[in-house]
Amino acid sequence: VIRSIVTGTGSYLPEKILTNSDLAKMVDTSDDWIVQRTGIQQRHVAAEGQVTSDLAVEAALRALESAGRKADDIDTIILATATPDNTFPATSVSVQARLGINHGFAFDVHAVCSGFVYALTTADAYIRSGMSKRCLVIGAETFSRILDWNDRTTCVLFGDGAGAVVVEASEGEGNTADKGVLTSHLRSDGRHKDKLFVDGGPSSTQTVGYLRMEGKEVFKHAVGMITDVIEDAYSATGLTSEDLTWFIPHQANKRIIDASAKKLKIAPEKVVTTVQMHGNTSAASIPLALDLAVRDGRVKKDDLIMLEAMGGGFTWGSVLLRW
Ligand code: ACO
Repeated sequence: VIRSIVTGTGSYLPEKILTNSDLAKMVDTSDDWIVQRTGIQQRHVAAEGQVTSDLAVEAALRALESAGRKADDIDTIILATATPDNTFPATSVSVQARLGINHGFAFDVHAVCSGFVYALTTADAYIRSGMSKRCLVIGAETFSRILDWNDRTTCVLFGDGAGAVVVEASEGEGNTADKGVLTSHLRSDGRHKDKLFVDGGPSSTQTVGYLRMEGKEVFKHAVGMITDVIEDAYSATGLTSEDLTWFIPHQANKRIIDASAKKLKIAPEKVVTTVQMHGNTSAASIPLALDLAVRDGRVKKDDLIMLEAMGGGFTWGSVLLRW
């Protein structure tokens, strides 16, 4: 069996930090309100002129370094973003050019907050089919550019950042059946498309638009959708919450994360949480959290890790992997 093994991780956060107190000077909000409802204390914001591909390249270089690979070793780049540099070309080809890769192929995946789970699942399918050998999978976002900074119900929730992983086909030596990506489960349901969306676009308004959200509606659906795709992963593998070493969910909101973990009976000490420092970085949140947990020594060889996300569309999904 060919398996997709994560061989390196990297991430990047823009230097500028916006705290809740900074936001309280911009809109009618407070540190207390934001922390109580979301757990968020601060978020990073891209500098003027710093675009999504800039963040993505930094994260990619760090992931390559940690995998011990040169850019030239990569044959496939899959970049998840809802905030591309331009309508086209895909942001991934800018990354490809900046890394000096001129073979293979690169494309973007658009599933908003679920983007990284979708991109990793896609890379896994390409690897297992034999079409790709070494993929760079990136989640990168500059949500600060699509926020209505006068709308307190949304502007306090999001941040900018990027995370990346190198995923490689197992060499086939020894038994790799229980390594790397074990199972993935993707879902979407477009009936919910108006609950979380951007009110602009090239074909509709010819503007970029701003993020709009029915927060309560998103919250209402989030926990059920998340737990469904995780239970799908358990059914497919016979594994359970007991077997998990780490739960690395999309970082939208501490209340959603806590409620999901509780419903799934995942012990709080197994949950990796970065939302307090990063806010919701959409497709970047999982690889950012994963990279942090790898670099601080939490994630170790043979650990069983559940990744999960839910976001605009709605889209949602899970990836279970053995480190
Ligand atoms: N500061 C102060 N007051 C605020 C703020 C703010 N930033 N935002 C809203 N309020 C006010 C509202 O106007 C409302 O006032 P009112 O009662 O006078 O009308 C009051 O606070 C309560 O607002 P609610 O919307 O009912 O607050 P709720 O408890 O639902 O929390 C929140 C809002 C945090 C957005 C919550 O609904 C939520 O977490 N939803 C999930 C959305 C999410 O995480 N989306 C991320 C994108 S999707 C994803 O990544 C999964």
